[in-house]
Amino acid sequence: MAIILGIESSCDDTAAAVIQDGVLLSNIISSQKVHESYGGVVPELASRAHQQNIIPVVDQAIKKAGINKEDLSAIAFTRGPGLMGSLLVGTSFAKGLSSALNIPMIDVNHLHGHVLAHFIKENKEDNHEPQFPFLCLLVSGGNSQIILVKSYKDMEIIGQTIDDAAGEAFDKCAKVMGLGYPGGPVVDRLAKVGDPTKFKLNKPHIQGYDYSFSGLKTSFLYLLRDEIKKDPDFIEKNKEDLCASLQKTIIDVLMEQLRRAAKDLNIKEVAVAGGVSANSGLRTAFEDHAKRYGWKIHIPPFGYTTDNAAMIAISGYFKYLDNDFCSMGAAPFSRVVM
Ligand code: KG4
Repeated sequence: MAIILGIESSCDDTAAAVIQDGVLLSNIISSQKVHESYGGVVPELASRAHQQNIIPVVDQAIKKAGINKEDLSAIAFTRGPGLMGSLLVGTSFAKGLSSALNIPMIDVNHLHGHVLAHFIKENKEDNHEPQFPFLCLLVSGGNSQIILVKSYKDMEIIGQTIDDAAGEAFDKCAKVMGLGYPGGPVVDRLAKVGDPTKFKLNKPHIQGYDYSFSGLKTSFLYLLRDEIKKDPDFIEKNKEDLCASLQKTIIDVLMEQLRRAAKDLNIKEVAVAGGVSANSGLRTAFEDHAKRYGWKIHIPPFGYTTDNAAMIAISGYFKYLDNDFCSMGAAPFSRVVM
């Protein structure tokens, strides 16, 4: 029997989860509200909040799982990528606890975690997992990638953004419309009642499977600037149509490259992960592609799309089965490596 504690602290969520033999026993998240008034995550404040939250969050995860900390087989933690100060809190905590309990430590790549979230079982009978090889569109506030997943540990980034991430495009455009932070969910809500064909925005033309969202963001800004000159209430009067047009353009860009990758590699098993996969338009686009192209699609439950520790615990579980542990000298990394 293997009981793994997962710890996630890469950005602004302090999270802990316990998984027993691949089945989730508890999943606790404390999201930091302190950043809302700044319109984005403030790294210094994030590290401080992690420091305050980590002990109560881990305690709660262990209690809710109905185990004692002495029952743990290993501790998995997010080593990177992410904010250095935030990662240091989770990494140091994992080191302290694993040394106190004399159990191994497992380092997890946050991006692998998002992909492997598809393998979290809520009960023993769950068998919804994707078959290898599959493609995973990973879209969050910090990442936009197409990943070719060959096994639990063999993953290759075949396309990625050369500038902004998809979530950033949602958030930055929402910010200029005064919709608050994070703006993605607000754009999603308003888009439901807007006309997606009302405004034409620039789409990038990129060979291969890479993404770019900075041109789209600039064309959105220019549109607002030009229209506000004619009518200062332009945003207020057109909020829904602006959100619907923006959302449609982002989704079209995401799906075009993904469709090309799936066709070229002849892969029909396609998954989506990361915070932006909560977007209702993107979910509909996946369902539509399943019908049109015969894709077998995998969309995780909402709770496993944004940052969470269940995905770190399940990734740790697979590494545990391989005896793939890390040393006490493991230092966090802030940048993307796969
Ligand atoms: O994976 P995640 O929780 O963490 C980061 O990488 O930061 O993703 C957060 C991102 C934010 O940009 C947020 O606006 C976006 O996911 N997001 C959404 C939706 N829900 C979250 N974007 C569009 N539509 C949504 N419903």
